[in-house]
Amino acid sequence: MLAKSLQMLLLLPATLRLAFAQNSNSSTSCNNSPDLCQRAYNNITHLGAHDSPFVRDASTGYSVSGNQYYNTTVQLSAGVRLLSAQVQTNSSSGQLSVCHTSCSLLNAGTLRSWLQEVNTWLVANPNEVVTILLVNGASASATALAAEYEAAGISNIAYTPTRTSAIEQWPTLQNLINNGTRLLNFVASLTDNTGASYLMNEFDYIFENSYQNTAPTDFSCTANRPDSNTSGALGAGMMPLMNHFLYVNETLFEMPNTTYLATTNAPSGGVGNLGDAATQCTSEYGRVPTFVLVDFFNVGPAISAVDRLNGVTAPTGRTAVSTAVASASTSGAMSAGVGKGMFMLCLTIWAIGRSI
Ligand SMILES: *[C@@H]1O[C@H](CO)[C@@H](O)[C@H](O)[C@H]1NC(C)=O
Ligand SMILES: *[C@@H]1O[C@H](CO)[C@@H](O)[C@H](O)[C@H]1NC(C)=O
Ligand SMILES: *[C@@H]1O[C@H](CO)[C@@H](O)[C@H](O)[C@H]1NC(C)=O
Ligand SMILES: *[C@@H]1O[C@H](CO)[C@@H](O)[C@H](O)[C@H]1NC(C)=O
Ligand SMILES: *[C@@H]1O[C@H](CO)[C@@H](O)[C@H](O)[C@H]1NC(C)=O
Ligand SMILES: *[C@@H]1O[C@H](CO)[C@@H](O)[C@H](O)[C@H]1NC(C)=O
Ligand SMILES: *[C@@H]1O[C@H](CO)[C@@H](O)[C@H](O)[C@H]1NC(C)=O
Ligand SMILES: *[C@@H]1O[C@H](CO)[C@@H](O)[C@H](O)[C@H]1NC(C)=O
Repeated sequence: MLAKSLQMLLLLPATLRLAFAQNSNSSTSCNNSPDLCQRAYNNITHLGAHDSPFVRDASTGYSVSGNQYYNTTVQLSAGVRLLSAQVQTNSSSGQLSVCHTSCSLLNAGTLRSWLQEVNTWLVANPNEVVTILLVNGASASATALAAEYEAAGISNIAYTPTRTSAIEQWPTLQNLINNGTRLLNFVASLTDNTGASYLMNEFDYIFENSYQNTAPTDFSCTANRPDSNTSGALGAGMMPLMNHFLYVNETLFEMPNTTYLATTNAPSGGVGNLGDAATQCTSEYGRVPTFVLVDFFNVGPAISAVDRLNGVTAPTGRTAVSTAVASASTSGAMSAGVGKGMFMLCLTIWAIGRSI
């Protein structure tokens, strides 16, 4: 009798979960549009925030190492659905952290707390599918990364692929939502994901164009990683990720080009704008890029080009943010932050060289 009641009790959450999943259906939006619910995950374009946790705002003293003006929560609410981040080891605490190049340069806290931030948003937004792309600068093992996912309470909604090669039959957004697996996770690189098969090795599934661009004429759709065989990658079913951000080269380091940002992220007009570049890549690939990765996503606004690729004309449920490029004159704290940031940046680049 007791065993029976216990069993009933244990069954209850699953039943509730099922009821909940069936309720979230196409009368509502998936990723801000009802039109996207029945589309396959790999056959829509997800707007990506490059270096999502690395914010150039008061919280970082307006660090020049910041790649976004708004934090991850604001990004998600505004329509960003791919979050890239670098994972490094904080050498004093030993904890896996989201740090830009080095934890002494820009430390956005532990990986666990950042994942908790993403989880909080996902719980509050049950019809949204989000992708995380981690650059594994810490060379952390799958089990070490998974421990952070588990501690953050986010591993239970992670999607596990059905195969390990690129030719995955990707589910529709509605399938992912109904199945309770609406967080997709890629890691560069993780050749052995034993014990955490939801952590997908990025270059088994995704190919990228070059991210090393300093002039608006540099953007290319040609595959750069894992290799330069674009047609081979497409033929293998790999998903295209379009890097679309510009660096400024300085003597010892590089930082985002913010003076040309309004054009770089624009839906049209001006050399190297996102809209024309995406059109070009769609034509070269014979399909839309699955991911578009930008700096300072709010400028452009970058989401305009992505909505066009998705055929979305009336997005729902977004919280708009300013499309302005923040300028140094907007804050007295900026110059102090820039000074410290520059100094740390020089030191770090000098010490360990460049990484994205
Ligand atoms: C979605 O909602 C419609 C209309 O309310 C209903 O007919 C349909 O059965 C629902 N689908 C699922 C999968 O729950
Ligand atoms: C991708 O989605 C578009 C728009 O719905 C559709 O026309 C196309 O057939 C889809 N392609 C694949 C391979 O599913
Ligand atoms: C993100 O930014 C918003 C707006 O500045 C702020 O209200 C919120 O507390 C921030 N969230 C986190 C988790 O830092
Ligand atoms: C590393 O972790 C310690 C302890 O949590 C923390 O005080 C420090 O700010 C972190 N950052 C760096 C750069 O080490
Ligand atoms: C949903 O989850 C079940 C059980 O894990 C799995 O067998 C099925 O393939 C999943 N469906 C999709 C569309 O991912
Ligand atoms: C950013 O790129 C534009 C276009 O190439 C260039 O004119 C501008 O000088 C660059 N900004 C900086 C700070 O170098
Ligand atoms: C590119 O990949 C295709 C398919 O795997 C292969 O047939 C072709 O030889 C490759 N081309 C080059 C230049 O490696
Ligand atoms: C910027 O630096 C990169 C890497 O060192 C180099 O490939 C590129 O040509 C440089 N671009 C300019 C405009 O100097």
